[in-house]
Amino acid sequence: MKILIAGQIILLLFCKIHGEPLEWWKTMSLYQIYPRSFKDSDGDGVGDLKGILSKFQHVIDSKFDAIWLSSIYSSPMKDFGYDVTNYRGIDPIYGTMKDFENLLNKAHSSSIKVIMDFVPNHSSNKHEWFQKSVKKVEPYTDYYVWHPGKMVNRTRQPPNNWVNAYYGSAWTWNEERQAYYLHQFLPEQPDLNYRNEKVVEEMKNVLRFWLDKGVDGFRVDAVPHLVEAKELLDEPLTGTTNDSNSYEYTVHIYTTNQLETYEMVRQWRNVIDEYKNKSPRVLMLEIYGDPKETMDYYCYGASFPFNFRFIFTNQNTTAEQYRYLIDEWMDHMPIGSTANWVAGNHDNTRIVSSHGCDFAPVVTTMVQLLPGVAVTYNGEEIGMEDTILSWQETKDSQACRVGEKLFSSVTRDPARTPFQWDSSVSAGFSTNPKPWLRVHENYKKINLAAQKAVDKSYYKSFVKVTNLRKLPVIKIGSFGSMMLSDNVFAFSRDLNGEKSIYVVINAGYEAETVDLKKYDDTLDKVKLYTALPVFKDVKDGEIMESQKLHVNARSAYIFTAVD
Ligand code: NOJ
Ligand code: MG
Repeated sequence: MKILIAGQIILLLFCKIHGEPLEWWKTMSLYQIYPRSFKDSDGDGVGDLKGILSKFQHVIDSKFDAIWLSSIYSSPMKDFGYDVTNYRGIDPIYGTMKDFENLLNKAHSSSIKVIMDFVPNHSSNKHEWFQKSVKKVEPYTDYYVWHPGKMVNRTRQPPNNWVNAYYGSAWTWNEERQAYYLHQFLPEQPDLNYRNEKVVEEMKNVLRFWLDKGVDGFRVDAVPHLVEAKELLDEPLTGTTNDSNSYEYTVHIYTTNQLETYEMVRQWRNVIDEYKNKSPRVLMLEIYGDPKETMDYYCYGASFPFNFRFIFTNQNTTAEQYRYLIDEWMDHMPIGSTANWVAGNHDNTRIVSSHGCDFAPVVTTMVQLLPGVAVTYNGEEIGMEDTILSWQETKDSQACRVGEKLFSSVTRDPARTPFQWDSSVSAGFSTNPKPWLRVHENYKKINLAAQKAVDKSYYKSFVKVTNLRKLPVIKIGSFGSMMLSDNVFAFSRDLNGEKSIYVVINAGYEAETVDLKKYDDTLDKVKLYTALPVFKDVKDGEIMESQKLHVNARSAYIFTAVD
């Protein structure tokens, strides 16, 4: 504890001397809360804002600096909040605006920032704007992207071959308006028309509404899909599938990452900067895709585009591949930008399920100790696993759309099941024994209370690692990496006048003895801060010969230099 407090003082001094106050978000440990599944306060089986408030101590105890709330906007829940009917309203299932303000106040009084989701690409088809657009009521007529389609052999067809990300054409016919409308996601999520200045202004005012309330920034949903090329040309085919309904059917050169999309991000940045005098705000973008196109968002005012590299690693990823993907991000980021690392979210497999329970904490260690922002999806701090749900239990519309045969390959429900607080009914998530998604059957073993009650546990290791983030060397230290053998690599964090930190990772399936002197030949001995996963025979604090370090299979060892 003492070293941590000393660390914070040194950091303050460092920033003073260099005259550059570090903006809070650049070093944050960010916690993604999926409100439906975090904590239910009223027994309806769905998580809510009062629930989050009642568990806020967990956010504090886990040393998070900020929370990002997945969408809590009013919604018919076709895509669980990513189909919005009121950008300024809280859905009653989550509570009221007062509940939101109470949560915001609690967070701020605990020095924790609150980041809202912002869903600009599409609204719900039940949104008043869309309902009026269908009827051509001004000014809403062109709030969405409408097209009469084209006649082929006297039958009407969509204007082009564009597909939506969830399977099927990106165009749906509307009888009432006698036109197709564009939707890059579900038909119930019509795309807003960013070529209409009124839409642009409406959405900027949405940002201002939440900034006026005091939120600390936004996670922006589905950014690449924002604007489409005007000409509505067919997209070229990938040639990898014959299924013209599959998102993999075309190369998305006209429907993603258009120049106008980058320019829109720049305009949002300007809006956010209207508020920066009070406190800097963060703008984080959800971008899956080409590394170069992703990086370009840094240059248009994004604090950062999410770095999803660790979401796509798995049990077979080698040490060399890990090292490469880390170095790739560090080397390609524009100079002076902030890196970030994401290994899980509500749309993807949980870390334990993709990497195994041994290696999952190793992935988390990388996320936490690499430079910049660390993002944790709720439940990852206790090593929750995906819950395998049957077709009958499935709720995710992406999965429901593709049918019983294919649902299991796309369903996002398994990573969204309730947080496992303790061993009571519904894992302490709800008094309701039948929550909206079934609780994982392992909850009696894997839950926060059980992990807090023992000396060594997944959660205790998580907190031990995140504690290091308070040290200046992790906050602002430089970064280097090196292969120590085919299966083992190391990275270091260094800062003048501070003890360097070395993280040695064995991604292989055999124990090895490695030489850390290869990394730094002045290093005779190192001190083990901790090792992950939890090993009975490995003792934190032990001094070791750096030339002969024994590293167990599938593990991470965190060392500090010894004077
Ligand atoms: C990304 C969100 O994370 C996901 O849950 C949602 O379905 C899509 N964007 C569409 O809004
Ligand atoms: Mg509830």
